[in-house]
Amino acid sequence: MHTTVGIIGAGPAGLLLARLLHQEGIDSVVLEARDREYVEQRQRAGILEQVTVDALRGAGAGERMDREGIVHHGIELRFGGRSHRVDFADLASGRGVMVYAQTEMVKDLIALRLADREPLSFEAEVHKVEAEGVDADHVTVHYRHEGREQILTCDWAVGCDGFYGVTKNAIPESLRRTFERTYPYSWLGVLAAAPPVYDELIYAHSDRGFALASMRSATVSRLYLQVPNGTAPTDWPDEQIWAELDRRFALGHDPAWKLTRGPITAKSVLPMRSHVTEPMRHGRILLAGDAAHIVPPTGAKGLNLATGDVIILARALTHLKHTGSTELLDAYSETCLERVWRAEHFSYFMTTTLHTDPDQSAFDTRLQLSQLARIASSRNAAAELAQNYVGVPIPGRPPGSRTGCRHRW
Ligand code: FAD
Ligand code: DHB
Repeated sequence: MHTTVGIIGAGPAGLLLARLLHQEGIDSVVLEARDREYVEQRQRAGILEQVTVDALRGAGAGERMDREGIVHHGIELRFGGRSHRVDFADLASGRGVMVYAQTEMVKDLIALRLADREPLSFEAEVHKVEAEGVDADHVTVHYRHEGREQILTCDWAVGCDGFYGVTKNAIPESLRRTFERTYPYSWLGVLAAAPPVYDELIYAHSDRGFALASMRSATVSRLYLQVPNGTAPTDWPDEQIWAELDRRFALGHDPAWKLTRGPITAKSVLPMRSHVTEPMRHGRILLAGDAAHIVPPTGAKGLNLATGDVIILARALTHLKHTGSTELLDAYSETCLERVWRAEHFSYFMTTTLHTDPDQSAFDTRLQLSQLARIASSRNAAAELAQNYVGVPIPGRPPGSRTGCRHRW
């Protein structure tokens, strides 16, 4: 089998890329290791930046998002027993974010791909991606599907196969650089059939550790607690989770304030990591999303970085199709990495400002509280947070706008 673009992985990056290419008349094949149900149910991110929202609308995948998603124009920071709202409308030129779960975005994109009758194979695990050198004229993708070894050849192969994917191994080790940081804590994430704590998200610093109150709908809460590395979800009975959330969100002026409780329907533990692989392109092999970079989740950047990469890539492949020029593809890695490193810094900043390191001294805690107080009192400091939170725009033309003449590949 041969295709123009072989896409490895049907997470948000792979599925959105496939849809954007389809809209431009560029054929692709998507290979996904897991089954459809697993991919559609995997609980992960929940906050979409404006760039992601616009891209989904442009891709024709925004209808349910616009009906069911919830637009937010701010977040609340809670620290030292008080709360402070960061107002995006005022500080980030009216931009906001949309609460819409990654599971739902993935379902919408899979439904579109299948409706388009475009190739998408589940339970198709890729084990090797290879090209004969940086100047090769095609890429070979080896995978196992329906009990048989199979081969896909493509003009371009895009690794959208997440942090543990195999595509990055096709970039020679001597040319690959990795940058990494781990953190001495994890998140316990729960879904609860309980109304959201508040109209917007609450990020809480407390002397017992970090907590985050998010939501999935008017009746479903998504809540996170900082826990030690190595914690198992079963270490935390439901009652203990609610009691701990109450303590970490406690307000000095209203000690009776408590979360509204409801049945906890899912529990998982997420380790935290910052990681970047450079470059994101080697010849005809490209990386996008978690395959190239990971951020700790505080600030909700992971999914949005993944969609940013594939918007930039779809534009570059479309430019090549119309003009025959690889100029945008040649700039792909650099264009993405500029946004990636900004998000790496923001996620690191949010994580280290809000969490309690087990080795943290009283001095370190005072520095965190001083930084949070600065955000609460300085318009510049608050604007810096707001503008990073709603996301850095992608330079250049919006996706879908065409220029130039058609050109053969
Ligand atoms: P993925 O979503 O990881 O998709 C990769 C796909 O490739 C998967 O479907 C995988 O099965 C497939 N694949 C892997 N290897 C192969 C192979 N060899 N062959 C074929 N297919 C393969 N971000 C936030 O902003 N907020 C959060 O709360 C948040 N929570 C998270 C919780 C967890 C447990 C994890 C792991 C991530 C979380 N993230 C969160 C990050 C966010 O979900 C990711 O950044 C986002 O999923 C990246 O999308 P992606 O398409 O690049 O990768
Ligand atoms: C969610 C996750 C995040 O990492 C975050 O910063 C905000 C919200 C969420 O899952 O809703």
